[in-house]
Amino acid sequence: MTQQFGDYQNEIYFAGLSGVLPDLPMSFAGLEARAEAALPPGVWSYVAGGAGDEHTQRANVSAFLRWGLVPRMMVGARQRDLSVELFGLSLPSPLLMAPVGVLGLCAQDGHGDLAAARAAARTGVPMIASTLSVDPMEEVAKEFGATPGLFQLYCPSDRELATSLVRRAEAAGFRGIVVTLDTWVTGWRPRDLSTSNFPQLRGHCLANYTSDPVFRSRLAQTPEENPGAAVLHWAGVFPNPLTWDDLPWLRSLTDLPLILKGLSHPEDVRRAKDGGVDGIYCSNHGGRQANGGLPALEALPAVAEAADGLPVLFDSGVRGGADVIKALALGATAVAVGRPYVYGLAAGGTDGIVHVLRSLLAEADLIMAVDGYPTLADLSREALRRTGS
Ligand SMILES: Cc1cc2nc3c(=O)[nH]c(=O)nc-3n(C[C@H](O)[C@H](O)[C@H](O)COP(=O)(O)O)c2cc1C
Repeated sequence: MTQQFGDYQNEIYFAGLSGVLPDLPMSFAGLEARAEAALPPGVWSYVAGGAGDEHTQRANVSAFLRWGLVPRMMVGARQRDLSVELFGLSLPSPLLMAPVGVLGLCAQDGHGDLAAARAAARTGVPMIASTLSVDPMEEVAKEFGATPGLFQLYCPSDRELATSLVRRAEAAGFRGIVVTLDTWVTGWRPRDLSTSNFPQLRGHCLANYTSDPVFRSRLAQTPEENPGAAVLHWAGVFPNPLTWDDLPWLRSLTDLPLILKGLSHPEDVRRAKDGGVDGIYCSNHGGRQANGGLPALEALPAVAEAADGLPVLFDSGVRGGADVIKALALGATAVAVGRPYVYGLAAGGTDGIVHVLRSLLAEADLIMAVDGYPTLADLSREALRRTGS
């Protein structure tokens, strides 16, 4: 019998027979508490916080409670198959690590991007590496092992710089470019505002820029000689409110799969599709950008319908394996997790991320076993019932 993700629980129970208990939390609440204790207060509030009074952030999570999977019996789901084909890649599961810009700062050694890449290598769960990282993308990609990685682009207003970042991602071996559309300006974040805390303006997580030949060519002095001027230049080129008129240019930038992140409206999905993108990424940035929005999960069914066969990635509010299952049943091709793996990183470095990813996959796999849905194809909309409004 082949290894199943759910077997992670056997490892834990059998270790318990020799008196070894898990040293990493088994619940999201426990993980959150451990991360809060491990991180400096400014990093913690930046990661845990969101926009406004964080209503949308909470609603992303509670939206999952409005759906329930209907169990099917006597299916004999002894073997489950969570594998998926995505952008020409054969992946062991539909789980991804969402791009997170301050990952670096969340590791005890300050190299969280590398830790996440190593977790990708160990689990087969691809990392979508953020433009905003402590270590340059080339160093991150070196740690991927046999697991493919995607590069998330915050498209700067300097088109030559954007082109350079994409060329570097191609050369480093990334297998797709995810362009994030919802963060050309930072949303209103009271937690960060109350401590005047914006990590990038303090010079953090800008390695992809300061290592870039085009970025460097724009500066009178090198970033090493004058870090403040480099940060100011970054602050000038970062905001780029892209429009649909920019899509042909974005598409022309690369032959790699191009995925647009932050789409929630079916009309936007159709325009993206008409513009030749390879994937749609339904997300509201975990409620970090605009408060008062629809929970991302509520937007997913219409997005998937409009995508009409194009792969749909989803994130925002995924906290456990049941959430992964529900997002798949509502039309996602693959599901990305954000804060939970960052908390795993804070709690236990690479091992902490591996634990979080394996736990999510184990829970998802065991739900498929218990409820009689042995393949992802079985997880259709008919598998779910609305449980409340
Ligand atoms: C601390 C933090 C930093 C993030 N940085 C980025 C980023 O650099 N690029 C990006 O596209 N999304 C970024 N995101 C958004 C995530 O990719 C993802 O959409 C979100 O975390 C999903 O919500 P969840 O955390 O509730 O799972 C960030 C999220 C967090 C929590």
